[in-house]
Amino acid sequence: MSDSTPARKTPEQLRSYRWYGRDELRSFGHRSRAKQAGWGAEDYVGKPIIGILNTWSDLNSCHMHLRLTADAVKRGILQAGGHPMEIPVMSVGEMLTKPTAMFHRNFLAMETEEVLRAHPIDGAVLLGGCDKSTPGLLMGAFSADIPVIYMPCGPMMKGNWRGTTLGSGSDVWKYWDEKRAGNLSWDEWCEIEDGIARSPGHCMTMGTASTLTALAETLGLVLPGASSIPAVDSAHTRMAAAAGRQIIENTWLDRKPSTIVDARSFENAIAVDMALGGSTNAIVHLIAMAGRLGIKLPLDKFDEISRRVPLLANLRPAGQYLMEEFFLAGGLPALLHGMQDLLHTDVPTITGKTLGENIASAITHNPDVIRPLSNPLQPDGGTAILRGNLCPNGAVIKHAAATPHLCTHTGPALVFDSYPAMKIAVEDMDLDVTPDTVLILRNAGPVGAPGMPEWGQLPIPKKLILQGVRDMVRLSDCRMSGTSYGACALHIAPESAIGGPLALVQNGDLITLDVPNRKLHLHVSDEDLATRRATWTPAPPRYHRGYPKLYVEHVTQSNEGADFDFLQHGPALPEPEIF
Ligand code: FES
Repeated sequence: MSDSTPARKTPEQLRSYRWYGRDELRSFGHRSRAKQAGWGAEDYVGKPIIGILNTWSDLNSCHMHLRLTADAVKRGILQAGGHPMEIPVMSVGEMLTKPTAMFHRNFLAMETEEVLRAHPIDGAVLLGGCDKSTPGLLMGAFSADIPVIYMPCGPMMKGNWRGTTLGSGSDVWKYWDEKRAGNLSWDEWCEIEDGIARSPGHCMTMGTASTLTALAETLGLVLPGASSIPAVDSAHTRMAAAAGRQIIENTWLDRKPSTIVDARSFENAIAVDMALGGSTNAIVHLIAMAGRLGIKLPLDKFDEISRRVPLLANLRPAGQYLMEEFFLAGGLPALLHGMQDLLHTDVPTITGKTLGENIASAITHNPDVIRPLSNPLQPDGGTAILRGNLCPNGAVIKHAAATPHLCTHTGPALVFDSYPAMKIAVEDMDLDVTPDTVLILRNAGPVGAPGMPEWGQLPIPKKLILQGVRDMVRLSDCRMSGTSYGACALHIAPESAIGGPLALVQNGDLITLDVPNRKLHLHVSDEDLATRRATWTPAPPRYHRGYPKLYVEHVTQSNEGADFDFLQHGPALPEPEIF
């Protein structure tokens, strides 16, 4: 049902009126400083003031065009009778932010919430796209709960090397292994470096960025089709202006996240994640986003939906094509249209129409890229939730991107206690390892790393690379890039750094991965595990001040979204006092 007749705000009901509209000392100060900025009353009085939260930064090449995008958003806002204010927020670029952009996702979420809450902002357009920027911006916006539209930066052009298409991430891992195996020269490696990132925009495989922007659109927070448009396509600029116009209408009608997104919207997002062959990272981010609205998403919900939703998007790393082809094939609206029988189509969206109304006229132009339900790429969603004595609170595996015979495997453990130790060991030609070994990385979870980095696609030991081995069973309490692949069980919870069973594994212990039966089992008796636990001690705290201390003391486990405990849903914060 569309919300065609909600009450319209008066100018006096706008949030910004509290700052600018009253006859008192502070309002005089606010208005005089608006004049200092060059704005007269005709610019903003009685108009919605729209924040454009811009994650542009020279530190984030995915977002290098977002200043131009912001200009287009401003054009739309002005056309529709609003007043734009562009506001820089942390960029959390995936490539350069260390120890991992995930460590700063919650930082961006806090910043977003406070920027929106503390200022005279009536509505906002959020500009992001590179992996963690999408959940960070949306988590903060959900908590602030004012009208927002998410405007994704769009994917970059597809890569090219000597006529071969290159995909972000996936081909980095692939050709790095070929270089380690001696099959690729330094000059060839440099040519790949030249051709793999050819334009602004986020990674163009169905990695975390493409997944999360598509899920934001599925949640109803993005204008239909916007998440699939390549960053350099002129349609991106036109869509940005349309977002600017739409946010004015939404602000007058108070279409805020809590009136748009509900539990059904998240079920849709999970279903679309599976149909896209989306990143495993989507699981932890969706749980965190839902948590901001008081919606619980148990891990088993992902497994249940994965079993009944087929993989329809033929996109790397699970498939063949890239985002440019997905856009030309009809993009997300076409995918949603094709799978509408599996969706709640009556959920509201930022357009004022239902999801079903938004996609009613969408057409698939290439049924090999966007498969119909009658011809899926594979019959299920390709992501499984594992249970067992190694992961009492769950683990995740994207078996669609794993070598099939490894999905049912028993082998001896080879344990690494840190990423640096593992990095050295895998180059050792005398390492005691065979293709049957189960590689384990621990102390890499939300608390242990900290920040749960994307280390879960553990490198294949060089000794095995030279034998032609390209996949092995690998376990960790961290994540892996959405562009990665392999038989990697991830997000093991509780994590080893807080005493999860992964902390008790010893070299040589037998471990069974059984994806068809959703099992991850350590063949050690409960008695022996209890003996090992009695002598286990946590590492001493490493951080005594600053954001890292706040992080490790308040981050939740991966099955809870790795949000901060004090940022999860609770009673609404009061509006700031204006004295
Ligand atoms: Fe920005 Fe991949 S590095 S999306």
